[in-house]
Amino acid sequence: MSSAATPEPQLPLRYRREETASSPGVNALPREPKRVLVLGATSGIAEATCRLWAERGDSLFLVGRSADKLAAVAADLRTRGAGYVDTAVADLDQTASHPELLTHAVNSLGGLDIAFLALGVLGDAPESERSFAEAGRILHTNFNAPVSLLTWLANYCAQRHQGTLAVLSSVAGERGRKSNYVYGSSKAGLSTFVDGLRNRIDREGVRVMTIKPGPVKTAMTEGMKGRAKFADVDAVAATLVSEIDKGTAIVYVPAKWRVIMAVIRMIPDRVFKKLNL
Ligand SMILES: NC(=O)c1ccc[n+]([C@@H]2O[C@H](COP(=O)([O-])OP(=O)(O)OC[C@H]3O[C@@H](n4cnc5c(N)ncnc54)[C@H](OP(=O)(O)O)[C@@H]3O)[C@@H](O)[C@H]2O)c1
Repeated sequence: MSSAATPEPQLPLRYRREETASSPGVNALPREPKRVLVLGATSGIAEATCRLWAERGDSLFLVGRSADKLAAVAADLRTRGAGYVDTAVADLDQTASHPELLTHAVNSLGGLDIAFLALGVLGDAPESERSFAEAGRILHTNFNAPVSLLTWLANYCAQRHQGTLAVLSSVAGERGRKSNYVYGSSKAGLSTFVDGLRNRIDREGVRVMTIKPGPVKTAMTEGMKGRAKFADVDAVAATLVSEIDKGTAIVYVPAKWRVIMAVIRMIPDRVFKKLNL
């Protein structure tokens, strides 16, 4: 009996999947694993994002300053299916060591598709109002160190005409608030640097992304007032994986923060200075 006449079983419409780049059909080429460098890999947001990259088989090079935390993250990502995991313990405040560290990382990965910058400190806001030592520490980790990393990474990617540089800045950089203007100004500087870098090297085929999260439930926001309403880190990570694949220039996450910040930017100064924000 010929089987040629046997029709393919048809799934009910609601179970059929459209063929897209992220759900290729049987005849499509398998997706190439991405080579991802994560700077500040023990960050809550980075960890959650790496879990999703690991689950789709991507290769990861993780940099963090705590050897124990880094080893635990790496072990978890290997069990989740990462194609390759390597690590380096480094205090990223040490900018002089960045070129050697980054060279080692891209050699280990065999190239670079995505660099994800997640390092950052909230710092002690009241102390930063009193002492430049604390203000300078916040500015160094949140601005100087990323600028040093991005300068090397941008030139590496521009020479090869490929790669995505995804940088965690913050909505806090959009308007100086009385409660955390030192942290906010470090992120304002970072956002402006990243925006300008994008305008320099987008034409070279390098995607540069300014990512602006609103408050997220991670170690950074532990104990903060109203934390129950902060964004879930896994939901934030899912948005980031998708937006990084697209190379979206400016990402607010959750998306509602684009609107909230547009409103906050419009509040007149005479009103804003009286608010307890
Ligand atoms: N959570 C939020 O509400 C929020 C909102 C907007 C933007 N962001 C930004 O998102 C990024 C990730 O934050 P998160 O929420 O995931 O907070 P987190 O869990 O506290 O992560 C911050 C990470 O930065 C690392 N780090 C700090 N200084 C470093 C240094 N000198 N060298 C190497 N690593 C260093 C920390 O390492 P250790 O693990 O060793 O401390 C930690 O892994 C930060 O840039 C933050 O400013 C967060």
